Amino acid sequence: MCGIIGYIGKEKSLPILIKGLKALEYRGYDSAGIALIVNNKIETRKSVGQVKILEQSLKNKFNLDSHIGIGHTRWATHGIPNKPNAHPHSDCLKNISVVHNGIIENYKELKKYLQKNGHHFLSDTDSEIIPHLIEDFINKGKSFDRALSDTIKMIKGAYALVIINIKTPKILYATKFSSPLVIGVGKGENIIASDSSALVGRTKDVIYLKDGEIAKISKKDISITNLKNKKTPIEIVRLETDLEQAQKGDFPHFMLKEIFEGPEVIRLAYGGRINSNDGEVKLGGLEEIMNELKGIKRIMILACGTSYYAGLVGEYLFDEIAKIPTEVHFASEFRYKNKPFNEKTLAIVISQSGETADTLAALQKAKKHGLLTIGIVNTVGSTIARETNAGVYNHAGPEIGVASTKAFLSQLTIIFLIAIYLQKNEGNKNSSKKLLKEIERIPKKIKIILDQSKEIEKLARKYKNYENFLFLGRRYNYPVALEGALKLKEVSYIHAEGYCAGEMKHGPIAMISSKFPTVAIIPQNGISEKMFSNLEEIKARKGLIFAIATKGDNKIASLADDVFYIPKTIELLEPLLTIVPLQLFAYYIGIKRGYDVDKPRNLAKSVTVE
Ligand code: F6R
Repeated sequence: MCGIIGYIGKEKSLPILIKGLKALEYRGYDSAGIALIVNNKIETRKSVGQVKILEQSLKNKFNLDSHIGIGHTRWATHGIPNKPNAHPHSDCLKNISVVHNGIIENYKELKKYLQKNGHHFLSDTDSEIIPHLIEDFINKGKSFDRALSDTIKMIKGAYALVIINIKTPKILYATKFSSPLVIGVGKGENIIASDSSALVGRTKDVIYLKDGEIAKISKKDISITNLKNKKTPIEIVRLETDLEQAQKGDFPHFMLKEIFEGPEVIRLAYGGRINSNDGEVKLGGLEEIMNELKGIKRIMILACGTSYYAGLVGEYLFDEIAKIPTEVHFASEFRYKNKPFNEKTLAIVISQSGETADTLAALQKAKKHGLLTIGIVNTVGSTIARETNAGVYNHAGPEIGVASTKAFLSQLTIIFLIAIYLQKNEGNKNSSKKLLKEIERIPKKIKIILDQSKEIEKLARKYKNYENFLFLGRRYNYPVALEGALKLKEVSYIHAEGYCAGEMKHGPIAMISSKFPTVAIIPQNGISEKMFSNLEEIKARKGLIFAIATKGDNKIASLADDVFYIPKTIELLEPLLTIVPLQLFAYYIGIKRGYDVDKPRNLAKSVTVE
């Protein structure tokens, strides 16, 4: 995955690179490095761990007076997180330095070929072949520019590269294929990075580099050519998002802050898009494909992780509200599916970051088969947002905590709106009014839950030392069980499994004991009786039960060891309420076990490898 950055301009590059890398850390943080051109030499510094460790190691260590440099924050794919594997990587003569995000699939054969030609490698990474390949072409008499374009013709896979070359100390080179790169156009300076979060405070004018393009960036100029060495037109886009929003404020962690933003992100998702008195939903982003949407007979939802779980709730919502058969696919598995695709199928792609490689690949496959595609994306201007036919932005603001929380609530809200929008029968207006009136009440109901966060904290203290958990739910709350378990795994490293409660007796019940607690999502609805029977089965095997139930449900208190009460809502909006105590539960257990919940081990916010 990794975050990459390059700077050239009037300012000293190092502080800008470090600040940018910190913003990009959500993409990976197991090691970091920078390379600067200082006195006609490339100075490289690396460290293992987060960018702050690199920053500390650089204090007063060497002359950093440079106005050009590159940086990298890594999420290991090839080779363990150690200094040799950290980027930037160089050629034999240390004339070229490269930062890479992506995976070079044919690196093994290229490495063998280069080793035969006398190149010596210092790391286990796939990325290190790039500077050596460029050097190899230069050794054969090619210019740097030609060597770079020949190199990218040889490598297969995904890459975003930023490169410095000692022979052209006033130029940053950049190129990409399937991994994102954005050039920030400044005054007397230019900055290039994996995404615009690294440009905060410097510029809001950006150029999105396209696959196969090579950019040559100096202090004042940018020129972009394609692989045929033809200049391509430059389109500068003004970013509208307020990236400065991404501050922690009074909260100790982004994760907690983002959980507490739940009510607001739901309001932001429906705000200006609904009229509950008329039962109307207006989605500006879908207007231009409205006619095509009218003919839709089937929906495929494509997503990963938390976004996939939001999609699973969508399966029930589209079925119940829009009466359109819906299937949900893990984006990473979609490539292996040979579905009977037809033009009456709508592909809905859900992604917080808009950059997830698997989701992007699934989107590309859907497009190749001629499906109409829409995106539910939070990050404005991201690749998925740009590549879908149309879409609805979440407008949830930047999500910094690596474990997704507020984006889930926002995604559920938007799926709900799209389901109403796609209803074909005008006679449903009355039911739409009721649904929309209820979504308007949800933020206040979440606030009631958040106001009791101390109660969840107490429960987290009680449960924090268990090493296994089962999360159970049915129907709309089955995806919530999956998501609740995922949150706990991610931030507390506790083994947790989410199951639909009916499946428990088909296997997982074997695990139940007094050491294996169950988190049961059992709000009062048409299926709570069935859930109750499943919980009796757990109690009969001495299992501990922590239940999320509806206020006023006294029966559950007689069975469960602990109950957290949430306000009543209609069943199809329950996930918006039931997930919140589970997010808090994971958060408090994570911090009580002493972990960095904002940057859990082994994870990255934006998963840009397949
Ligand atoms: C879990 C989490 C991941 C993401 C997944 C998809 O907390 O954050 O499971 O949901 O990697 O990411 P996006 O939504 O950016 O495509």
